[in-house]
Amino acid sequence: MKILMVCLGNICRSPLAEGIMNEKMKSHFENYQVDSAGTMGFHQGNLPDSRSIETAENHGIDLTYQRSRPITEKDLDTFDYIFCMDKNNYDEVMNLASSNAQKQKIHLFLKFSEQEKTEVPDPYYGNEDGFEKVYQMLDVASEVAIEKLKKQS
Ligand code: 4NP
Repeated sequence: MKILMVCLGNICRSPLAEGIMNEKMKSHFENYQVDSAGTMGFHQGNLPDSRSIETAENHGIDLTYQRSRPITEKDLDTFDYIFCMDKNNYDEVMNLASSNAQKQKIHLFLKFSEQEKTEVPDPYYGNEDGFEKVYQMLDVASEVAIEKLKKQS
């Protein structure tokens, strides 16, 4: 099971989503991979935002092994599930897809996880508090997603 988390910069939301999902998958799957990418390459090679690192650290999750990278069309073949943080990311990734098989892998993460909200808000320009809110949203959504993935695998 290979999962790719996608946001815009791959420094705030998707690194958190990767870290949380990676941690939770451990107890449910033997063979799995969780990665993340951005729809833009502006932050390529950079560590996650220090506020994401700190927020994850507060919950015992390490993000410092991660480096930002842009999504490529190859990712749409490599990964089984591509989970996008917001509708813009979703549209961008859909535009990359060239086959129905690729398109079917692309989901809005919160929608897949049957959450009331469909988008994870971008915390980049906000304060620290936004990062903890994002963490909580992703934490709940990841639990639901894993239950669905278990049924689909
Ligand atoms: P992310 O947040 O998509 O959650 O990683 C952002 C990071 C950087 C920028 C925008 C959003 N930026 O414009 O540089």
